[in-house]
Amino acid sequence: MTLTMEDIIVEPPAEGVVIDPMDWFDSPGPFEIEIGCGKGGFLLSRARANLHLRILGIEWANKYFRYAADRMARWKLINVRVMRTDAGYFFIHHLPPACVSTLHLYHPDPWPKKRHHKRRLVRPDFVEAAVRAFVPGGRWLIQSDHEEYFGIIRSLLDRRPELTGTAWEETGAEAQADWVGTNFEVKYAREGRTIYRVAYVAHQPEQSHNGQDTC
Ligand SMILES: C[S@@+](CC[C@H](N)C(=O)[O-])C[C@H]1O[C@@H](n2cnc3c(N)ncnc32)[C@H](O)[C@@H]1O
Repeated sequence: MTLTMEDIIVEPPAEGVVIDPMDWFDSPGPFEIEIGCGKGGFLLSRARANLHLRILGIEWANKYFRYAADRMARWKLINVRVMRTDAGYFFIHHLPPACVSTLHLYHPDPWPKKRHHKRRLVRPDFVEAAVRAFVPGGRWLIQSDHEEYFGIIRSLLDRRPELTGTAWEETGAEAQADWVGTNFEVKYAREGRTIYRVAYVAHQPEQSHNGQDTC
């Protein structure tokens, strides 16, 4: 089976629709999301090395989104989908509970000016939606080069009873042979910038169902 770029692209759901991500794939498997996949460097390596996974890359910038989708099609990957949307809105309005096994968030835009902080992705309503989206034992891997934003992200996540911080290494992420680093990670590491990393494990026992199905 080969997928075209158009097959790889999934449209953002219509207003009010909660989707089942497994509908996009031909076979089951743990479902992962990378937010802000950019040109898809990490997405590609992750999907190629883990064919048992289903992975959605979410990217807002049209140019990068199309680049990433084209790249996945050229590599003939069938376990990846790419969506152009605002990840925050998607999590809050369209993602069912208990479906994400790993959430990758690498170098989210820091919006360093104070008057732009409201544009940041990681805010309490997004965190609420992300926590709801994890399967028990789900992992949230976060990496940033921006100390202040990273500190805020940590303080928001540390106060969630459903999340337990764990050492990055313990998640196995770096130990995995497929860990190649994201574009920004490679660039900033070359410049000698500090890169901050944290990992959380989600452990909510039962989801409170508010009429939405899990996937
Ligand atoms: C600093 S870049 C990092 C790209 C990649 N994760 C990396 O580490 O190389 C942030 C990316 O996230 C995308 N982005 C920012 N906010 C977003 C949002 N709310 N939803 C989806 N993508 C977003 C940007 O367009 C950009 O491609």
